[in-house]
Amino acid sequence: MAVTTATEPHSASARGAAPTSALVTGASSGIGAAFADRFARDGHDLVVVARRRDRLEALADRLRSETGVEVSVLAADLTDPAGLRDVEHAIDGCGGLEFLVNCAGAAGYMPFVSLPPARAEELIRLHVVAPTRLTRAALPAMIARGRGVVINVSSALAFSGSAPAPPLPQRAVYAAAKSYLNTFTEILANELAGTGVEVQALCPGIVRTEFHTVAGYDVSHVAFALEPADVVAASLAGVRLGEVICMPSLDNAALLADAEASHGRLLDGARSGSVARRYRAP
Ligand SMILES: NC(=O)c1ccc[n+]([C@@H]2O[C@H](COP(=O)([O-])OP(=O)(O)OC[C@H]3O[C@@H](n4cnc5c(N)ncnc54)[C@H](OP(=O)(O)O)[C@@H]3O)[C@@H](O)[C@H]2O)c1
Repeated sequence: MAVTTATEPHSASARGAAPTSALVTGASSGIGAAFADRFARDGHDLVVVARRRDRLEALADRLRSETGVEVSVLAADLTDPAGLRDVEHAIDGCGGLEFLVNCAGAAGYMPFVSLPPARAEELIRLHVVAPTRLTRAALPAMIARGRGVVINVSSALAFSGSAPAPPLPQRAVYAAAKSYLNTFTEILANELAGTGVEVQALCPGIVRTEFHTVAGYDVSHVAFALEPADVVAASLAGVRLGEVICMPSLDNAALLADAEASHGRLLDGARSGSVARRYRAP
C-alpha cells in the first residue's frame, strides 16, 4: 500500500486533536489541491490521493510546513481496483472522517464512437465507481459519529443532456457520469436526513485548472472561468447553507428549486396509470 506519513512536531495529532479528518482525491492539482490547502489551513489532518506521488509529496511538504497539520500521501490510480481498495483501507484506518472529497477526474471529451471502449470504462471507474465505493467506505463511521461531509465533485455539465455540441464539447460518458453523481448525492441526502452527515454534489462551470489543458482545450480566454480556491470556498459555504446541489457561480438559486419541481412533475406523470395518449394506436 503506497501510503507515506510524516508527523510534524506541531501537527494536529501531536497536539492531541482528532485523527485524520479529511481525505481528498485528485489532490495533486486543481480543485482537489485547493480543497487540501483549505482543509490544512482550517487545521484538519489530511490524506491526499492521486497518481502523481511527486506532486502529492510536494503539496504535503508545503502544507506541513505552512500549517503544521499531518498530511499522508497515498499514490493510487482510482481506475485500478487495487488502487481503489488502498483508498478504501485508508478511509477505514481513519476512524471517521470529517470530510471526504471525491474530486479526481478527467474529461475524455470526444465523439462517443471515437472514445476507445477501455477509456470509456476508465472514465466510469473514475467518476462513478470510485466516488460510490469511497462514499460507501466513509459513511458508516460518519453516521456512527453523527457528523461528516461527503463532497462529490460533479459539474455543471451534469445538467447538459439536452445542450448541443458545439459550443459544448462532445461528452456523453463524462456528462452522464456527472449526472449519476448528482442523482446519487441527492438520494443519499434524503437517506441521511437526521444522521448529522451531509452530502453535496459540487457543480462548477469552467474552473482554471489543468483539466482543460490535459483534454487539449484552451480556456485562458474564458472570462467566466472561476479560480479553484473560490470554488472550494463556495462549496463549504454551500455545506453550511445545507445545499445538496452547489453551483458556485449560479446567483439565482431558485432555478435549482425549479428544476427539482419539474422533476417532481415528471415523476407524478409516470404515475398516471395509463399509457399516454400519443402512444396509443389511432
Ligand atoms: N476544471 C473545470 O473546469 C471543471 C469543471 C467542472 C467540474 N470539474 C471536475 O473537478 C474535478 C477536479 O478537476 P480539476 O479541474 O481540478 O482538474 P485537474 O487539475 O486536472 O485535476 C484532476 C485530478 O484528478 C486526478 N486524477 C485523474 N485521474 C486519476 C486516476 N485515474 N486516479 C487517481 N487520480 C486521478 C489528477 O491527479 P493525477 O494525474 O496525479 O492522478 C488530479 O489530481 C474533476 O472531477 C472534474 O471533472 C472540473
